[in-house]
Amino acid sequence: MTSKSFQSPDPRRVYVETYGCQMNLADSELVGGILKSGGYTFTGEMAEADVVLLNTCAIRENAEQRIRGRLGLINARKRSNPHLVVGILGCMAERLRDQFLEEERLVDIIVGPDEYRRLPELLESAFEGERGIAVRLSRVETYDDIEPLRTEGISAWLSVMRGCDKFCTFCVVPFTRGRERSRSQEGILREVRNLAEGGYREVTLLGQNVNSYRDGECDFAALIKAVAAVDRSIRVRFTTSHPQDMSDALIEAIATTENICKYIHLPVQSGSDRILSLMNRTYNTAGYLRLVEKIRRAIPGVSLSTDIISGFPTETDEDHAATMALMREVQYDGAYTFLYSARERTKAWEMGDDIPEEVKSARVTEIVAMQRLIALELNRPLVGTVLPVLVEGPSKKSDAAYMGRTDTNKTVVFPHQHEAVGDTLQIHIERVNSATLFGRPLVAA
Ligand code: SAH
Ligand code: SF4
Ligand code: F3S
Repeated sequence: MTSKSFQSPDPRRVYVETYGCQMNLADSELVGGILKSGGYTFTGEMAEADVVLLNTCAIRENAEQRIRGRLGLINARKRSNPHLVVGILGCMAERLRDQFLEEERLVDIIVGPDEYRRLPELLESAFEGERGIAVRLSRVETYDDIEPLRTEGISAWLSVMRGCDKFCTFCVVPFTRGRERSRSQEGILREVRNLAEGGYREVTLLGQNVNSYRDGECDFAALIKAVAAVDRSIRVRFTTSHPQDMSDALIEAIATTENICKYIHLPVQSGSDRILSLMNRTYNTAGYLRLVEKIRRAIPGVSLSTDIISGFPTETDEDHAATMALMREVQYDGAYTFLYSARERTKAWEMGDDIPEEVKSARVTEIVAMQRLIALELNRPLVGTVLPVLVEGPSKKSDAAYMGRTDTNKTVVFPHQHEAVGDTLQIHIERVNSATLFGRPLVAA
């Protein structure tokens, strides 16, 4: 315990709400670690909190709108408790900066993703009535020495790099998270050893371009092999991979290392070469398909997923048809689909936003329907097979059913198995739909 918490017998309670990607979830755990060392405690109830922090996402307009809606609600709470300190963290903090202080006077502190070490100091000032803003981006901050405060579970997120230098023309991330930088290999391995000792069964290495990780001689292929060697009984996953950085060495590492999961999220964004070029994605469809073929040859049974944006400026029906054709060819196990949202400061912002929302939605609907059929076709042959499943906990729909995932990241639902959380069970698959496999554990002989 630090001297600060010693001085203050009644530590202040913090409530954190997180939006956006896994990197942001991992950042909230970092923030938790920093505030814990600063003597703060945590609550899952906003009503009990002295500090409310929203760790925000700016990736699309609707993400920001949701957060603004939440702020309205918190505003009402602040009226009844003027001592409540409200903070905006994360990508929106970076994007909107002082706009929050001026327009939305209910916000006390605004802290961007590279300034979380200053949180305790900024909060102390906020309790004295001083509002604060810290939104400098850093070329070096990786929080390598900070121990994240993880919530219970068997699966841990671990950020290995921050920022992004790819500048896809639609994307705000290079502006909200700054330049790409990697954590030290030693720091990462130290954390993985701690996780292994703490009983974690799965680690997901995170970065907006996780496979462009580099620390001196150590590239991502070397890193993930070293992580997997820490404890062979721990599953290792990673996300997100840019196709450009999907090296042969990495493909080989996945193929030859048993505890690296056979699942790659490999966003393509569009199946039209004209659109890919306007997006500055640095590959064309032929190159992407060659990569997929190489991956499938090296890693039999690998599962692939993608992100697709519909309605990028100037996208025609032919471009959309090309995306559908590419998806049919690749046969993804899963796809996340997004309506294009124009973001200030990006290159694409200057291209206008000429595709009507109804057209964007119609295209996404078509893609989703087709993808569902593809996933169902891919899952169907799994009926009757027995798959190893890492048990995670109660399924979202009911406490009576439990869920876990296969090595290939497919969700499996089976009868209650509380004792088995963290174990790998052999599950006999009885039925499937496009998103989930259902079965029951084989009874040991
Ligand atoms: N670094 C990851 C992507 C992170 S953002 C990668 O390059 O793969 C997650 C997804 O959000 C992107 O893959 C993209 O499909 C989507 N996205 C990003 N900016 C967007 C925008 N302006 N409008 C719509 N979707 C967007
Ligand atoms: Fe955004 Fe492209 Fe970087 Fe992904 S690679 S975070 S889409 S700029
Ligand atoms: Fe959103 Fe920032 Fe992640 S914009 S998707 S929280 S990097």
